[in-house]
Amino acid sequence: MDWGLKNRLARMIKPSDGRSVMLACDHGYFMGPTRKLEVPRRTFEPLVPYADVLSVTRGVLRTSVDPSWDIPILLRVSGGTSVLQNDLSDEGLTVGMKDALRLNASAVSISIFVGTAHERQTLLNLAKLVDEGEDRGMPVMAITAVGKELEKRDARYLALACRIAAEIGAHVVKTYYCEGFSKVVEGCPVPLVVAGGPKLNTEADAFQLAYDALQAGAIGVDMGRNIWQNDHSVAMIKGIRAIVHEGATVKEASDVFDQSKGASIPA
Ligand code: R5P
Repeated sequence: MDWGLKNRLARMIKPSDGRSVMLACDHGYFMGPTRKLEVPRRTFEPLVPYADVLSVTRGVLRTSVDPSWDIPILLRVSGGTSVLQNDLSDEGLTVGMKDALRLNASAVSISIFVGTAHERQTLLNLAKLVDEGEDRGMPVMAITAVGKELEKRDARYLALACRIAAEIGAHVVKTYYCEGFSKVVEGCPVPLVVAGGPKLNTEADAFQLAYDALQAGAIGVDMGRNIWQNDHSVAMIKGIRAIVHEGATVKEASDVFDQSKGASIPA
């Protein structure tokens, strides 16, 4: 791995503990102005001080992220479908490596859809991106997307998808937490982070997900809706941060949330 690629990865994953709190705000690329992300900057500006990485598309980066903010950018570079389609897997590359470099991205992210009609296409997109990333010193995150088929998220499927992503050369993989997650971690030779998925019923549920994923070997989260769809989004990210970087339990993270919530005005 070349120096530039290692340096970018070190911006994404904190060298002090090998962990990362990535804030996922890239949903608009297929969901449009989804709830609580209608005005992206309004959503993420208060959260950025507590995130290690901000995950966005180039359109949101250029319009809504202040270039002076000290936050590494994980740039979403795949897309081409919308929630109006039943099958979300027909994705292509939406950003060239030249623009990713011009935008000073610290890494690029791409969805792969294993087991779908577009499996081959999305895996070859990943291969192409990894070739370009290795050439230009840009880390690539593969996302094991399931589209609308949320029930696919079991250990057997996710282990398969994560391993394929790593074999093709992804430097980091984002996947979902599931029962038996340690099997997914064991079979994946590159760092794994977990998405949160749709908003869970309680804050404790989201903290539990992050805690269990970390216990099983994930190096962090790339979480969106369970943070910014919460009425107390800053309190929420503080709780997640405590789990990821301070080894907090679910109870301790809930205490962080309650204390911070007491001091904040609902969004
Ligand atoms: C899908 O839009 C993206 O891959 C998200 O970045 C990912 O699903 C993480 O966001 P959430 O925690 O809301 O699932």
